[in-house]
Amino acid sequence: MDYIQTQIYQNHVPAIGGESQMTLDMLSHKQQNDHPEFYLKQSMLPQRSTTSKGKYSLHDFQIMRTLGTGSFGRVHLVKSIHNNRFYAIKVLKKLKIVKMKQIEHTCDERRMLKLVQHPFLIRMWGTFQDSRNLFLVMDYIEGGELFSLLRKSHRFPNPVAKFYAAEVILAIEYLHDHNIIYRDLKPENILLDKYGHIKITDFGFAKEVKNVTSTLCGTPDYLAPEIIQSKPYNKSVDWWSLGILIYEMLAGYTPFYDTTPMKTYEKILIGAVRFPDFFANEVIDLLNRLITKDLSRRLGNLQNGAKDIKNHIWFQEVVWDKLVAKDIETPYEPPIQSGTGDSSLFDFYPEENQLDYGIQCEDPYAQYFSEF
Ligand SMILES: Nc1ncnc2c1ncn2[C@@H]1O[C@H](COP(=O)(O)OP(=O)(O)O)[C@@H](O)[C@H]1O
Ligand SMILES: [Mg+2]
Repeated sequence: MDYIQTQIYQNHVPAIGGESQMTLDMLSHKQQNDHPEFYLKQSMLPQRSTTSKGKYSLHDFQIMRTLGTGSFGRVHLVKSIHNNRFYAIKVLKKLKIVKMKQIEHTCDERRMLKLVQHPFLIRMWGTFQDSRNLFLVMDYIEGGELFSLLRKSHRFPNPVAKFYAAEVILAIEYLHDHNIIYRDLKPENILLDKYGHIKITDFGFAKEVKNVTSTLCGTPDYLAPEIIQSKPYNKSVDWWSLGILIYEMLAGYTPFYDTTPMKTYEKILIGAVRFPDFFANEVIDLLNRLITKDLSRRLGNLQNGAKDIKNHIWFQEVVWDKLVAKDIETPYEPPIQSGTGDSSLFDFYPEENQLDYGIQCEDPYAQYFSEF
């Protein structure tokens, strides 16, 4: 019976955060409600050079195909005409960003991406812009989305789910140690490299926050109840999403899945999780401590932070130091020809007949994106 749900839960679900995708009772609670006093004044991040602004241009790349589409534009596989290597370029349309009130999130995305350095986080090389679009140049991660692998596999065996969860934990722990909330953890944003290690991409909602913030953003199924309730929330929303992700990897569907976001929100607020019979007691215990409304019980939010999750019995056999050094065999090696721009593991997206890239015209939003 439970598996019937997976049949209707196969499509990418877009993230919310733009006005047009919000439901009625959320309209009072938009991006500009982030309280400025909660922002960190002095960044905790390593002060890496940000001179990559405008370092590249469209003429440096040959555009190959679309790897993914989002609310603001597309991600293309591209080839550098200088070194013949492959990269991914995320293109964001200025007009859409402005219309959906995502200027600040977009500038944060660039800033966070430029600064983070971790084996399980995507690396960005630089950005540039034209009159209509912003371009972010990243490493191309060839193995496709964890989402596609999960849908193909239906669900993952315990050790496989544990491996991906453990790599995700290290990445999120790193972000939190640098006071960054990620806010959009889901299988679509987790890519697999050629060896099968994860790379988290999409910093569209990542934000440097010392304490609490209150923007409504994320993807319905993975949203913590405090976000839905418009309460100020902290980094532990990522640990809630981790719980949803682990559940989904093991079950093949998310615990609060329903046919509309509104119904999903109702279920999240009720917070009753039903575990399939084949879930082991250890993982049920872990999930009960991640997918909990009670912030004084939620693992990751207690005194020992992420250590409490890493020390949980379900992760008993994980050697964390080896894992961060990628010194552990991956459960699955993507079947690709590395270095050749093989993109066979990505879904097919119809290409646009005419891309509006590189056009010189009036740019009414130039002042908002001077960082690119
Ligand atoms: N560096 C990358 N390498 C390969 N594919 C990528 C990369 N970055 C993004 N993608 C693909 O593009 C999709 C959309 O990118 P993402 O940054 O998640 O945009 P959005 O904010 O619209 O969700 C991803 O889910 C992934 O399939
Ligand atoms: Mg995404």
